[in-house]
Amino acid sequence: MAFPKKYAALSDQEVVLNIQKARETLGSSLTILGHHYQRDEVIQFADYRGDSLALSRRAAEAKEARYIVFCGVYFMAETAAILCTPEQTVIQPVAEALCPMAQMARAADVAEAWEALTSVWGDDLVPITYQNSIAEVKAFVGRHGGAVCTSSNAPKLFEWALAQKGHLLFMPDEHLGTNSALSLGIPEEEIGIWDPADPPDPKELAHCKVVVWKGFCYVHEGFSVQDVQRVRKRYPQAKLVVHPECPRQVVELADSWGSTAGIIKEVDAAPEKATVAIGTEWHLVHRLQEENPEKLIVPLSRRTCAAMGMTSMRDLLYVLDQILQGDPVNVVKVDSEVAHWARLALERMLQVS
Ligand code: 13P
Repeated sequence: MAFPKKYAALSDQEVVLNIQKARETLGSSLTILGHHYQRDEVIQFADYRGDSLALSRRAAEAKEARYIVFCGVYFMAETAAILCTPEQTVIQPVAEALCPMAQMARAADVAEAWEALTSVWGDDLVPITYQNSIAEVKAFVGRHGGAVCTSSNAPKLFEWALAQKGHLLFMPDEHLGTNSALSLGIPEEEIGIWDPADPPDPKELAHCKVVVWKGFCYVHEGFSVQDVQRVRKRYPQAKLVVHPECPRQVVELADSWGSTAGIIKEVDAAPEKATVAIGTEWHLVHRLQEENPEKLIVPLSRRTCAAMGMTSMRDLLYVLDQILQGDPVNVVKVDSEVAHWARLALERMLQVS
């Protein structure tokens, strides 16, 4: 529990009323951004909800807001802090809400992989990092001519990178990297894996076009071929849509794949009474069913992200109260040198996509 005890004593109704009052008082000086995986009790207060790409864009555009309260996980708030102006303050209601995958690529390990791969390919290599990475890794990528990507534009950014150089190093999600490379027709023999826990001999990767980091999202990696078989058997008429952080075998068995925003679009586009099975974080799947009672929306299995679920409406009220008292808490700060290079990598993405 990140908030002081007095918030626990408030009824849900009091919390809702107090958040509404705080938003009214703060007016246009406040914008609340919420990722689709947030709990309903939090997302209801988002001025803007979206996938990683849309939220980055919004953070870069929300110039009128003195305070950006980001309900998501740390790399998202950090990205907002990199993209906003020095006059703006980015606040994350629960500072401990960290994406485990983003922690799987340390900047020192990325530098080691880079050095090893450039010993084989010289400078014929571009780095691309997933948005779900720490600021230091984004900065490394920016410094070396690369860009950030999200789940909605990864293939596009891969194409951008491979139009410039012969090889690409992607961090930190093995599955998004593999699925994106395969979708561009890159043969699987030309997709190598870099395991930072047991770095390979770079000469063994010399024949590869794309090298993907051995990192993963535990929510999406857990969706299995057995889940697909079970859901297909139970709902033979269902359209199966999955997130590209799922393993390749699951993505190949699905009817389509896309970011959280892409998944929402698929549900919107499905005809009335359609059944849509979804392989992504359960809070979003559950909400889609609530919002589309005329359709049947079923989870591939009920998998939840602990970090995304950490933020409650009491945490939100606490940080809003602190803003009102002139003493903001959980302010997200990024070292200026790191922010400079990371911004470059993010801006390249925003230009390309
Ligand atoms: P989206 O960009 O699809 O919203 O994904 C973010 C994420 O963290 C998925 O695990």
